[in-house]
Amino acid sequence: MPHRSLHAGAVLLLLILKEQPSSPAPLNGFNWTYSGPDGEKSWPKNYPSCGGLMQSPIDLHGDILQYNASLVPLEFQGYNVSANEQFTLINDGHSVKLELPAGLHIQGLPSRYSAKQLHLHWGNQNDPHGSEHIVGGKHFAAELHIVHYNSDLYPSDIIASNKSGGLAVLAVLIEMGSFNPSYDKIFSHLQHVKYKDQKVHIPGFSIEELLPERPAEYYRYHGSLTTPPCHPTVIWTVFRNTVQVSRQQLLALETALYFTRENDPAPREMVNNFRGVQKFDERRVYISFQQEQDLTYAGLSLGIVLSGALAGVLGVCVILAVSIWLVRRKKSKKGGDNKGVIYKPAFKKETEAHA
Ligand SMILES: *[C@@H]1O[C@H](CO)[C@@H](O)[C@H](O)[C@H]1NC(C)=O
Ligand SMILES: *[C@@H]1O[C@H](CO)[C@@H](O)[C@H](O)[C@H]1NC(C)=O
Ligand SMILES: *[C@@H]1O[C@H](CO)[C@@H](O)[C@H](O)[C@H]1NC(C)=O
Ligand SMILES: *[C@@H]1O[C@H](CO)[C@@H](O)[C@H](O)[C@H]1NC(C)=O
Repeated sequence: MPHRSLHAGAVLLLLILKEQPSSPAPLNGFNWTYSGPDGEKSWPKNYPSCGGLMQSPIDLHGDILQYNASLVPLEFQGYNVSANEQFTLINDGHSVKLELPAGLHIQGLPSRYSAKQLHLHWGNQNDPHGSEHIVGGKHFAAELHIVHYNSDLYPSDIIASNKSGGLAVLAVLIEMGSFNPSYDKIFSHLQHVKYKDQKVHIPGFSIEELLPERPAEYYRYHGSLTTPPCHPTVIWTVFRNTVQVSRQQLLALETALYFTRENDPAPREMVNNFRGVQKFDERRVYISFQQEQDLTYAGLSLGIVLSGALAGVLGVCVILAVSIWLVRRKKSKKGGDNKGVIYKPAFKKETEAHA
């Protein structure tokens, strides 16, 4: 009897193992999340690049920034999509994603980069600080990524995604502030994509409206996708200036969506879908703009130089004074021979104090 059930168990196990490949596995092969056991610390187990070099996002801070005059303004061609065309808005289980039609591309990088999709990263209503890139340690409320691939060299974003320089992402830092009618062209449809794999068609609009003022001012560095498989193939352009969305708009983003499918018995709210900042190692961030801060730095360094000089002068004075005093004392000592009498008690006192 026990033998037979063991046998049946083995057969069942074999059947299960055999069935496994045909079960609907996610496209990436593995599930990954932003929290819990499949959170970002576990990503490298299934996606080795996530634990590798050149990872994103990063903290854009003073020490690593370098002005580079060759960073020209980018041009955003075909971004003004007519309302007669349609975009597809999708909840992909990690973010809300807008698929972009062929024809949008960036001019100004060594190759032409064609847009594929845009998506957002955000925090939660109690801690609305969900940008991926941070600036001088400061988080912003949310972040928009417009993902492009090198369409001169590769036929698709999938093929380009693991090639050096295969991808170019534009990143917009989003702050809480005034109502933003352009972002509302996305946010007003969130209720239709609450759950994973839900889609809705929305009217076209100008994607350029989603960019901040003076887009010629940006940070540029080489990094990675901020989600698995974390390929280190992304030319990042993080705009220096932020855009604002209202408190209500941000709240809509933070509360409308779920990571899970509609009938999932354990629904998970789509919040805090941002990756933590990564080590920066030997890399450099080029900036296309001269920082006003440079003036402060210049002022500061002038101050340091001046106080250094002052300290030097004071030091010389002290040394001179001491030398003069020593010389004078030596002269006076030659007059009276009373060394031992003066020093012995003083020395004794000091040893007592330290005991
Ligand atoms: C991923 O999650 C789905 C449901 O959430 C599950 O059916 C599937 O087995 C998981 N896949 C892996 C590889 O863990
Ligand atoms: C400026 O950036 C270009 C690439 O955009 C790079 O080739 C060059 O080395 C950089 N210049 C300096 C001084 O770092
Ligand atoms: C986009 O195109 C429409 C119609 O051609 C025009 O009215 C609008 O001003 C354009 N928007 C931008 C941002 O260029
Ligand atoms: C990119 O991915 C493809 C398919 O997974 C693989 O065959 C190829 O070797 C990869 N290329 C690089 C440069 O990693």
